[in-house]
Order: sequence, then C-alpha cells, then structure tokens
Amino acid sequence: MKVACYLMFVFYVVVQCQVTLPPNRLKNVRLNQCVVNILNKYFTEKPELTYVNLNTDDEELLKKIYLTQNFSLVTRNSTHQSFLPNQGYLINSKDVTTFTQYFEYLMTDPTWNPYARFLIVVERLPNDELRVIFNELLRLHVNNALIINGTDDAHLFAYNPFDNYACGKYYTEVIRFGLCSQATQNLYPNKLVTGLRNCTFKASLAHRPPFAIDPLKAEGEKTILGTEEYILKVLSEKEQFTVIFNYNYDHNIYSSVAPNMTVSGSMAMLRNNETDVIFGGMMMVTSRAQALTWLCGYHDYNDEIRFVVRRASLIPIWKTVYIEFDATVWLLLLLSFIVYCAMMIFLLQAKDKGFVALELLQNLLSQSRDIRCPMSIKYILIIWVWFAYLINTFYQSSLVSLTTDPSKEYQVKTEDDLLKYKYRPCFSVALRKYLSSELREDIPKKPTVVPLITHDVEGCSTTFQSLITQLITKY
Ligand SMILES: *[C@@H]1O[C@H](CO)[C@@H](O)[C@H](O)[C@H]1NC(C)=O
Ligand SMILES: *[C@@H]1O[C@H](CO)[C@@H](O)[C@H](O)[C@H]1NC(C)=O
Ligand SMILES: *[C@@H]1O[C@H](CO)[C@@H](O)[C@H](O)[C@H]1NC(C)=O
Ligand SMILES: *[C@@H]1O[C@H](CO)[C@@H](O)[C@H](O)[C@H]1NC(C)=O
Ligand SMILES: *[C@@H]1O[C@H](CO)[C@@H](O)[C@H](O)[C@H]1NC(C)=O
Ligand SMILES: *[C@@H]1O[C@H](CO)[C@@H](O)[C@H](O)[C@H]1NC(C)=O
Repeated sequence: MKVACYLMFVFYVVVQCQVTLPPNRLKNVRLNQCVVNILNKYFTEKPELTYVNLNTDDEELLKKIYLTQNFSLVTRNSTHQSFLPNQGYLINSKDVTTFTQYFEYLMTDPTWNPYARFLIVVERLPNDELRVIFNELLRLHVNNALIINGTDDAHLFAYNPFDNYACGKYYTEVIRFGLCSQATQNLYPNKLVTGLRNCTFKASLAHRPPFAIDPLKAEGEKTILGTEEYILKVLSEKEQFTVIFNYNYDHNIYSSVAPNMTVSGSMAMLRNNETDVIFGGMMMVTSRAQALTWLCGYHDYNDEIRFVVRRASLIPIWKTVYIEFDATVWLLLLLSFIVYCAMMIFLLQAKDKGFVALELLQNLLSQSRDIRCPMSIKYILIIWVWFAYLINTFYQSSLVSLTTDPSKEYQVKTEDDLLKYKYRPCFSVALRKYLSSELREDIPKKPTVVPLITHDVEGCSTTFQSLITQLITKY
C-alpha cells in the first residue's frame, strides 16, 4: 500500500510538472540548441557577443548561451548607445516590424561593426516579410547575416548581395539553408569572391584643380585628369571596375559627426546611398573614423586649431632710450631722487632748494660737483654718488646690449593674447560653421574661443578667399 501511495505521488508530481512548464519553453528547445550550435561553430573566434533583445520575453536563450561559458555576453539596450566593442551580434526580435524599427539604433554605437557576423532570430517571421529584413540589412551594408525563423524547426535564411557581380548593391534571391538541424553547409561563407570586378561605382569629387577638374568649370577643354581622378582610374583598371565621376559636392562644407554618429555635410552622401566613393582631403578625426569606414588604415589625428600669427616686429629705435628699465624702476628712481633731495635740503638747511636738486641730478648723470658742506654730510652724499654710479652702469650696459641685439615687441602666443590684442582670425564661413558645431560641447568650458569664431572678417568667406587674404597680408 505504501509503495502504491508513493507511486501515485510520483505520478502526480510528474503530471504537475508537465502542466506547469511554460508552453514556449518546450517549443523552443530545438531552436535554442540550434542557436547555441551556430554560435559555438561560427562565433567563438571572437568570443565577445552582443545580445540585443527586441521586445521578446524570451530569457531561455540567453541562459542557455550563458551556460556554455563560451562567450563574454554584452546585452545591449535596444535604443541606447553602447561604447563597448561589437564583435558579433545576436539579435532576438519579436517580429519583422520591431526589427526594422530598432535595428537602425545599432548604428548609433561608435563601435558599430557591420563586418561582424549577425545571427537574427525572429519569433514571428511570415514568408512574405523575409525580404523586408534583408532590405534593411542591405541598406546598412550588413552582409554576414543569418536569419532564423523562431519556430521549433528553425529554418535558416541568408542572402548574398555580391552574387552575380551585384557588388553589394542588390540581391536577387534569398538563400534557404532549410532546417537548422540539417544544415551542413558553411553558413557564413566569404561572399566577396569576385572582388570589385564588373562593379560600377559612383564617385563624388569637388572641383579643386589640380586634384580634380570639373569639365564644366575647366578653362577651355579638359585635357588632363586631376590627380584624384587619375588615382581612381588606375585603381579601377587594376581591379576591373568602372567609375562614374560626379562633380557634385561642395568641398567648402566640412562634414561633422554628431554624438549619435549621424553624419552631416558631404560625407552624409555615403550614408544616404547618394555616392559610393568620395575623394578629397579631410582631417581624419576619431569621430569621423568611427562613423565611416576607410579603405586604408588611418592615423588618428587630434583635432586641433593652430592660429598662425605674425611674428613680433622690432621695437622702434627711439624706444631703446627708456626700455632698459621698466616703469616701476623709473618710478622708484624718481622717488629716491625726491626723497634724497628732501633729505639733503633739510640737512644743508639750503635756501636755494632748486640748486641742491640740480646738483644731485648732475651727480646722477655722472657729472662731478663739489658741494660745500661739513664732513658728516659728505658721508651721506657719497651714498648718492655710489647709487648714481650703479644706476648709470646698469643703464649703459643695457643700452649697449640693446644696440647690439635689438629687442622685439611682445609675441602673441596664447588664445587669450589673441583676444587681448583684438586679433581677428581669417576663417572661411564653412570652417567657422564646422568649428561651432564641433565645439558645441566644449564652449561652456572654454568661453574665450567664442569671439574668435563668431566674427565676420572681410575677404575670408570661402576657403580660397581666406587663403588669398592670408597670402597678401604683409606680415
Ligand atoms: C564551447 O565551444 C567549443 C568549440 O567552439 C565546443 O566544443 C564546446 O562544446 C562549447 N561548449 C559548450 C558548453 O557548448
Ligand atoms: C533602455 O534604457 C532606457 C534608459 O536607461 C530604459 O528606459 C529602457 O527601458 C531600456 N530598454 C530596454 C529594452 O531595456
Ligand atoms: C516560419 O515558420 C512559420 C511557422 O512554421 C511559417 O508560417 C512561416 O512561413 C515561416 N517563415 C518563413 C520565412 O519560412
Ligand atoms: C542606392 O541607390 C541606387 C540608385 O542610385 C538604387 O538602385 C539602390 O537600390 C539604392 N540602394 C539602397 C540599398 O537603397
Ligand atoms: C563581368 O565581366 C566579365 C569579364 O570579366 C564578362 O564576361 C561578364 O559578362 C561580366 N558580367 C556582367 C554581369 O557584367
Ligand atoms: C542624432 O542627433 C542629431 C543632432 O544631434 C539629430 O538631428 C538626429 O535626429 C539624431 N538622430 C538619431 C537617429 O537619433
């Protein structure tokens, strides 16, 4: 009887367990296993994994990945910028609409990495919405992506925008790998097998002879290529691609990058699919390097402004007469003269005060004079003579050094000096706009630079004009 009771109890517990298990937990066991298998196979090279949950309440997957202890997991908030490195993405989305709504936010990370591998699980994925996801991935140039239908049999899908010489610009069909458990092919193949062959790129240049010459603006007929056009032509011959040149951007507009990695100015054309290549000189600052990708590695350049001011000129010759001593010394000299005069007048009980003062002045200028007076006063007088001798020697030696090595006016050397001496920098309007947008955050910390970048100076509106103005300014 006891045994029967026990069996009943066990049976009851088992039934209870089955009833209380959440339905989707059972449903997703194979799906989660599939995700973990793919991660183990393709993502362990770089074990940092960014997990983005887009409105799902699925926590089993995350737990399961955590238990493998194969990954450093970083969960990224779906809307908030992250500054951690992204080496692989796992995105778990409720449906396609949620995915397209939030996917763009990943681009606001300075560390956004479209070259990483993407694994995207979509819980509700109707067949006719599959292309919506791939269109979004194509728009953001994410090529190594694998989509999993978030059902238990977990079908896998991918696309290849480099197939058939599509050059990353379009794709014709979705690749269906079938059931996750049966997929044996390489799920993340190298798609760029044909390189740049047969591609056609839109290149944007600015009319800036001798770098690029717009045939419409060239004087006479355009006979030679600009250096930038030539470089691109050589590259295109070597790699067998075609380039269509557009002379459609204004190089006077400086591109800046907002904290959310939105690009403005001409570089925005790259983001907006208006052009594929931009040529031109530009300072490579960290924010730009983070927001856009570069063909070659870049050497980080600290953003800085250097003001070039004129060299301090020589001091006019007549000033050498008095610049040996500064104002305080001259004043002290005058003071000691007055004090000494007063003392002597008192000691000598002199009636002619002017006479005594003139005698002392003569002493000071190295003229000897005999002042008749008792011996005791002579001792005091000798002090004045000694003082006069010293001052004279100092003055004369300084005068000699000034004549052999002429002195210069004060050299303006700090930002504060620029303000103090009312210098007006010759910035082009574009550079001023760029600076005020870049300094947006620093201005409260450094209010001194504001007047420097807000004043309008004649002859400095474009970069070219300001160059000319600087050249013809005499200093
Ligand atoms: C971790 O990854 C390795 C290979 O990438 C795999 O053999 C191992 O089974 C994984 N560990 C777990 C717990 O899945
Ligand atoms: C993201 O972070 C914000 C603020 O920290 C929070 O309000 C929001 O709920 C978070 N979103 C998710 C999906 O966790
Ligand atoms: C994903 O699975 C669901 C349910 O089995 C199915 O209705 C849907 O068509 C599948 N999606 C794709 C893209 O095959
Ligand atoms: C980019 O623009 C071209 C036309 O200039 C268009 O054919 C292509 O579909 C666009 N690509 C994307 C991803 O929007
Ligand atoms: C690509 O280039 C090859 C020659 O390199 C040519 O035979 C082929 O027709 C081109 N394909 C396309 C789609 O332009
Ligand atoms: C990014 O910030 C700029 C201004 O700082 C704003 O105009 C733009 O709408 C923002 N973009 C996003 C996607 O938040």
